[in-house]
Amino acid sequence: MEFEQAWLDYSRKCSCEGTDGIEAVFVGIADDRQDILIKNSVAELQRAFVGLFGRELAVHTGAPVGDGICLALREGMQAEAYHIYEDGGKISIEASDSRGILYGVFALLRHMQTENSLRGLNLTKAPVMPMRMLDHWDNMDGSIERGYSGKSFFFEDNEILVNDRTVTYARLAASVGINAVVINNVNVKDAATWLITERYTDKVRALSEVFAGYGIKMYLCLNYAAPMELGELASADPLAEEVRGWWKKQMAFVFREVPNLGGFLIKADSEGRPGPFTYGRTHADGANMLAEAVAPYGGKIIWRCFVYNCQQDWRDEKTDRARSGYDNFIGLDGTFLDNVILQIKNGPMDFQVREPVHPLFGGLTKTNQMLEVQIAQEYTGQQRHVCYLIPMFREILAFHTYVAKECDTVEDIVCGRTFGQKNCGMAAVANTGNDENWTGHDMAAANWYGFGRLAFEPELSAEEIAREWIRLTFGREEQVEETLLYILMTSWRAYENYNAPLGIGWMVNPNEHYGPSVDGYEYSRWGTYHRADHLGIGVDRSGAGTGYALLYREPNASIYNDKERCPDKLLLFFHHMPYTWKLKSGKTVIQHIYDTHFEGVEMVDEMVERFRKLQGKLPKKPYQRMLERFLHQKEHAREWRDQINTYFYRKSGIADERGRKIY
Ligand code: GCU
Repeated sequence: MEFEQAWLDYSRKCSCEGTDGIEAVFVGIADDRQDILIKNSVAELQRAFVGLFGRELAVHTGAPVGDGICLALREGMQAEAYHIYEDGGKISIEASDSRGILYGVFALLRHMQTENSLRGLNLTKAPVMPMRMLDHWDNMDGSIERGYSGKSFFFEDNEILVNDRTVTYARLAASVGINAVVINNVNVKDAATWLITERYTDKVRALSEVFAGYGIKMYLCLNYAAPMELGELASADPLAEEVRGWWKKQMAFVFREVPNLGGFLIKADSEGRPGPFTYGRTHADGANMLAEAVAPYGGKIIWRCFVYNCQQDWRDEKTDRARSGYDNFIGLDGTFLDNVILQIKNGPMDFQVREPVHPLFGGLTKTNQMLEVQIAQEYTGQQRHVCYLIPMFREILAFHTYVAKECDTVEDIVCGRTFGQKNCGMAAVANTGNDENWTGHDMAAANWYGFGRLAFEPELSAEEIAREWIRLTFGREEQVEETLLYILMTSWRAYENYNAPLGIGWMVNPNEHYGPSVDGYEYSRWGTYHRADHLGIGVDRSGAGTGYALLYREPNASIYNDKERCPDKLLLFFHHMPYTWKLKSGKTVIQHIYDTHFEGVEMVDEMVERFRKLQGKLPKKPYQRMLERFLHQKEHAREWRDQINTYFYRKSGIADERGRKIY
């Protein structure tokens, strides 16, 4: 499959004052410290200069003679940080390590393409989150779980692919500061179980070496039952000596064969995956067993908290899927080894367009934590609708947990500011595939780009990130920039408007999770009920209901627990409310449903109308690809509007105040 270069496409000529005199790169780094990252940094500069300025850069080792770009290692800077400055036409990039140099090079190239001048440039940046990870849900047969942009480019027919595309992928990821990548699906089955055996280690190593050249640690997902499936042991009990011994031996083998391995991601006791519960053990028992086995090699165990009982009877109003992550892990706080990191989804359910922040953030105080988000848009339009998620991620990061007097936001926690942790950060379920443009919808690339940039520099606004991405991808034409910016910044709100109302979520077709189906999950066993009847809708998660609201620290618990104080946008997540309830906005619940659904469609219409004016201003191919998806979104948003509005009109019998057409 052909592939494009996304935001690293240097084929568009660029003008930036101060670049004219640059003819050479001076590598002021001793030979023995010129590792592959330094070489790749130099190669990136050369490649970019040919494309952007039509000029070959000479490469000299040693002190600069004349203008150019000087790369130098310098003691005393934070790991992975860089300092770029211009001085009389000479550009310096300094860092304490070669990753910092690489990030500095990408930052310089970004600056050249997005700003007008290099004069006076003086930029020091250190990544704020220690771990900035992409989780690919790729299966070894080439399919991708919740993949909406083609097939896997890591796997095909149970083999591992290492080719030009892999290199471009690593460059794209590194250019936004990604430093860890999980290549296989959390649901580890069949061939993927064998990734840690000699059947695959040659190719795993080869792939990990491509990553290493761009500062990326490779991670694999493990099958918790591997000792039984591979080792023919009778159990996978984490406290059984033979099981512990098996893992130790296997880990010694894997890390010897694949030195660039960062560690493993594990989904256990969830949605049918095996785990320690089978043996009456805790998740700490399971995670610590693996952590011990990888510790000698500096490995990390990333353990997911997405653990719930997916068999909930609708009559049972006390069981609450939203509680389960918290209930399963809070009692284990402080019992995990230091190389274990709990990976916690942003909300307690599953990547809905609106959820409260997961109460484990702020609940846990003695455990390494990582925030997991999903850019694959499983529930937010599957990369056919545009839905720029960076504004959502920023809201999540800014959430005050009240776990400490200061430094208590989710961002503080996952950056290590709250508890002084180093093993923390953010992971995103990736949205790439082997489509020519990598992400299906061209605009979905803004989520990939944006995720990396946000994890590196969470102080950037969603708008700043969007502008960067637009300029790098489509150049600096004003109408293009303003239009695409408008679309990106409107998209999440628009999607939320025509989706399930007021935080309730889940009104999708079961399994595929695409398109409206108000009762799709209402009559299944997955515990994702909305409990709508002719009088009202919502789940009572107050103290009188499932008690979920009380899992938060004060004042959050009291606010969520109280229907008068609970924010509108989450009201139906926390409370069962009559349709006639007056929201803080002054509207009734039912009128809010109607209004937002009409508005959502109007917002999409406006986006598409503005987009059409870019015909001739955007390159033909991406314009056509995007237009096709926008036309689908327009239609599909109507389907959402009509299904939801009609459903609630028929349930409630209350007409729209404004008399609009509701079927
Ligand atoms: C969602 C998704 C699954 C995925 C799971 C997970 O439920 O639909 O496909 O495996 O999340 O995060 O593990």
